[in-house]
Amino acid sequence: MATPVDVVIMAAGKGTRMKSTRPKVLHRLGGRALLAHVIDCAARLSARQAVVITGHGAMEVEAACAGSDLAESDLSLKFARQEPQLGTGHAMQQALPLLADDGVTLVLSGDVPLTQAATLQALLEQCGGQRLALLTLNMADATGYGRIVRSGDQASDQVRAIVEHKDASEAQRAIHEIYSGIMAVPTRLLRGWLARLDNKNVQREYYLTDIVKFAVADGVAVVAHQITDAAQVAGVNSPVQLAELERVYQLRQATALMEQGVRLADPARFDVRGTLACGQDVEIDVNCVFEGWVSLAEGVRVGANCVIANATIAAGAVIHPFTHIDGEKLGVQVGEGARIGPFARLRPGANLGADVHIGNFVEVKNSTMAKGAKANHLAYLGDATVGERVNYGAGSITANYDGASKHRTVIEDDVHIGSNCVLVAPVTIGAGGTVGGGSTITKDTPPGALSVARGKQVSIANWKRPVKQPKG
Ligand code: UD1
Ligand code: CA
Repeated sequence: MATPVDVVIMAAGKGTRMKSTRPKVLHRLGGRALLAHVIDCAARLSARQAVVITGHGAMEVEAACAGSDLAESDLSLKFARQEPQLGTGHAMQQALPLLADDGVTLVLSGDVPLTQAATLQALLEQCGGQRLALLTLNMADATGYGRIVRSGDQASDQVRAIVEHKDASEAQRAIHEIYSGIMAVPTRLLRGWLARLDNKNVQREYYLTDIVKFAVADGVAVVAHQITDAAQVAGVNSPVQLAELERVYQLRQATALMEQGVRLADPARFDVRGTLACGQDVEIDVNCVFEGWVSLAEGVRVGANCVIANATIAAGAVIHPFTHIDGEKLGVQVGEGARIGPFARLRPGANLGADVHIGNFVEVKNSTMAKGAKANHLAYLGDATVGERVNYGAGSITANYDGASKHRTVIEDDVHIGSNCVLVAPVTIGAGGTVGGGSTITKDTPPGALSVARGKQVSIANWKRPVKQPKG
């Protein structure tokens, strides 16, 4: 059986360069907290628990972990407070009481969101429950990073130590191989090494990286698992770096979708902040944002500048430019072959059947529209049940709210609602009926009838408009 894995996530640092009151690890990438990405990755490794080391903004970080964004996986989360922050070694010392000696400790950082599970799996294999395994990378400019010091100058030589930039000699600063901040270490060895740390260095900090020299002294093998993809170990320290990693993350998602056959007009102008599932032959124009849970079935086309959240779009539907869909918790359903937009707004509980047409400046909320129903211009449908083939005229609204409660409007099959009607709910428009333009309907209408409720038109012949009299 493989050695159990305990993940420790460092998240106590201040993140001064973010210049924000929000704790750094709660800043969002792809719509989720940086820390959520790290926790997800830990969950994918089947770790038996993750210990988050908190310090700056500890209460906020711990509270966020209980929220839905971070608590998505069922990985067991624990916290260790580090106050004050005396360095990465000191941070690990705070986590030790929560770690059992039979495991391997995988050290991650809460501000490094793009590490892939496969990379960490490979690192854990290098560790094999008995070696100290370091994730390393060659960097053209290694300024600021801990350098991997080997016994000779060959890459194949034994790792002897990690020397922090500020403590490094000129010769050591010339080394390009850096420590990523990620390591896997047998916990029983880690415990002994952490007890031997001191802060006799330029920064007066307890460096976790000093355990490398203890491992060497104790004859424990130290292996460097070198990767080439810098984004996987890149940390977020500033808004600029956050934006850079956001683009890397989005490009990864865009690439994965394109590899499945999705046609994106421009992968650089595409954002998924959640999950986007696509069928075959889906086309997405520029500047679209997908949030929460969105599914686009076969042949769906999405025009430019749409924002779509928590919605299921059935096969062949077309979402024209500038459409905003947000299903929130209730969700939005768009039926097969439906045409939505441009400039349409679908809100929670909009449930549209096949071939429904929703045109510009039409808002639909908590309403069902059956096959072939149309609302093409400037209209509001709230808490309505709309039958098949209904035509809902421009400027018409359901008055669904009386100031205290919401009421339903039922529009039966084949009804034609003229322009500028107000349907005062609760009210039912009988099947096949017609409502004359400009009507305010307060009572149920019989099937097949023409219902008109408005002032009669009057014309006064030869009407003279008042004329302004000259002064004096
Ligand atoms: C550390 C490594 C360095 C490596 C670099 C990679 C040490 C001593 N150095 O540098 O070799 O190249 O990461 O980015 O480990 N943190 C705490 N408590 C503390 C200090 C830090 O929780 O007391 C957390 C930070 O919030 C951060 C992580 O540890 O998430 C790394 O700290 P940071 O200051 O960014 O790294 P360095 O110490 O500069
Ligand atoms: Ca530091």
